[in-house]
Amino acid sequence: MKTAAGKSLVTDTLGRPVRDLRLSVTDRCNFRCPYCMPAELFGERYQFLPKPELLTYEEMARLTRVLVKFGVTKVRLTGGEPLVRTDVELLVGMLAEIDGINDLTLTTNGFLLAQKAQALREAGLHRVTVSLDSLDDDIFRRMSGRDYDTKRVLEGIRVAEEVGLRPIKINAVVQRGVNDHTIVELARHFKGTGHIVRFIEFMDVGSLNDWKMDSVVPSAEVIERIDAVFPLEPVEPSYPGEVAERYRYQDGSGEIGVISSVTVPFCGDCTRARLSPEGTLVTCLFASTGFDLRGPLRTGATDRELEQMVERVWRARSDRYSEERAALTGPQPKKIEMYQIGG
Ligand code: GTP
Ligand code: 5AD
Ligand code: SF4
Ligand code: SF4
Repeated sequence: MKTAAGKSLVTDTLGRPVRDLRLSVTDRCNFRCPYCMPAELFGERYQFLPKPELLTYEEMARLTRVLVKFGVTKVRLTGGEPLVRTDVELLVGMLAEIDGINDLTLTTNGFLLAQKAQALREAGLHRVTVSLDSLDDDIFRRMSGRDYDTKRVLEGIRVAEEVGLRPIKINAVVQRGVNDHTIVELARHFKGTGHIVRFIEFMDVGSLNDWKMDSVVPSAEVIERIDAVFPLEPVEPSYPGEVAERYRYQDGSGEIGVISSVTVPFCGDCTRARLSPEGTLVTCLFASTGFDLRGPLRTGATDRELEQMVERVWRARSDRYSEERAALTGPQPKKIEMYQIGG
């Protein structure tokens, strides 16, 4: 079906359109969060993708234009850590010129944000989301796998705000017995700043992070703990299919969110497509494989041919991993890792 805006709307087997594109620009990262890229497995000698394997920025922009034809309006750059890819603002500039994208954003660990924020803003980035699991330096070090402290990430957030990359969201993965006792402090720190902290249930993404249900702190418990100190009330989603459930402080000093992929799956409204750094189109965060677009792209496929491939993949999509998780038993197939697909 073509819309008045010339879009070819396509829905998957569960009636879900494609609205968001998460573009992973690199598999590299300057952190080693044990829940994503454990340092003992990703040492100095670990072979990340060699440069020729990565899509170029031109190739990423071309595939994005194809997806925009199908109704994508939101693009998020992820990684690994997107700011470690050289001159990522050049990609931002290319994406900012594509008609139809009304939300252009990026998820970063914040380490390089202070030095990059201005260039990103000038290139046309709208906003950023910064991962920060705890304000406690020891816990931060444990959860980022590096010997840094939080100061540099906080400075990144400050500069991002100053240059107008707002609203800023702060993502915190919550793990029982690791940082769950610091969530109220994190909420307190950002309360009244206009930044929105989102507490994320630790997910079984990939196969390397030693995930156990015991480590998951259900979002309901997170809300209960914060509400006991700062009374909260629920807020309606800001767009259909929003990943986070929103709550506001009753005293009017802002809002927080919880992302409950484990205890309250949200596959029913999932309109997200993911593109890996080497050009594989992936239709679920928990997928084992995807569809290679780089091959055809580099052997001369026309835009029309690329569109047909994307359409075929999306029409066949039936993913609803988080909803099926509870029923899964026995050994699971190897899944794509978080750092390969950016969450
Ligand atoms: P907003 O656009 O600001 O609402 O952000 P977002 O929630 O789309 O993106 P963000 O990158 O901040 O994601 C937050 C967390 O939700 C990350 O841990 C993601 O891995 C997770 N997440 C995002 N999309 C999905 C999804 O489709 N399925 C699951 N299970 N988790 C997701
Ligand atoms: N479970 C939940 N969130 C995760 N992230 C990375 N790995 C996991 C996991 N296993 C978060 C990052 C970042 C976002 C994109 O995903 O901390 O904020
Ligand atoms: Fe890097 Fe983000 Fe993975 Fe941490 S979660 S290792 S910051 S890609
Ligand atoms: Fe979408 Fe897969 Fe996440 Fe469900 S588990 S919300 S289908 S990405």
